[in-house]
Amino acid sequence: MDLTFRQLPRHIAIIMDGNGRWAKQKNKPRIWGHKAGATTVDIITKECSRLGIQQLTLYAFSHENWQRPKEEIDYLMTLLRRFLIKERKTIMENNIRFNTIGHIHRLPKTVIDELDKTKEMSAKNTGMTLCLALSYGGRMEIVDVVKKIAQRVAQGEIQIDDINEEMCSQSMYQPGMPDLDLLIRTGGEMRISNFLLWQLSYSELWITPTLWPDFNEQELHKALEDFEKRERRFGKVL
Ligand code: FPP
Repeated sequence: MDLTFRQLPRHIAIIMDGNGRWAKQKNKPRIWGHKAGATTVDIITKECSRLGIQQLTLYAFSHENWQRPKEEIDYLMTLLRRFLIKERKTIMENNIRFNTIGHIHRLPKTVIDELDKTKEMSAKNTGMTLCLALSYGGRMEIVDVVKKIAQRVAQGEIQIDDINEEMCSQSMYQPGMPDLDLLIRTGGEMRISNFLLWQLSYSELWITPTLWPDFNEQELHKALEDFEKRERRFGKVL
């Protein structure tokens, strides 16, 4: 596949939706869909890295997902743990730096240990950043930023007038995260679902009916080809 793109997004984020529906279409349990979804994560990570994308952020488990049936949550956590152990090879071979955003402390200890190990191991890599949003909520992130900054004001470290967009960005879960250029959502729903609310301001959107387990390199290229044609004005007249 030798495609060249005139304009590539630096940072792509994906709402990986449709695992459950994919499984249902095949008369299989929902977890079957999640398992297939984990394979898609590996495929898309490799392709984004190959194309030279700076950061790929994946919505792997939302704050709201804690309300799913216990068996499904347990399965997702087991899958995540297994995925991390297996994915380290891809991560290291492709010079990928691994990172997370979200309330990681709520995850099982066994998962936290694997996350830490993967982050440590890949900390010196210089290629694409792969960031998993886990136990993540966009509003919660903004609340956490407000608390962090309010504390600095309370301690007299900064004045209220010092607060600006740059300071807020630097106080998010991943300080220095590159601006989000393209949000992809699979599964066809026209929603943001509490994902990266602050970072989405000027992001382009690509929503496809394709279910996440069916998403692949060709589907990604379609989104990138469309992105190339977008005229990004950032609110200005060009
Ligand atoms: C939505 O599908 C997807 C999730 C709740 C989590 C995403 C999980 C994966 C892609 C698999 C594992 C990920 C990693 C990183 C190992 P859904 O169940 O809401 O689908 P539906 O809308 O069809 O019901």
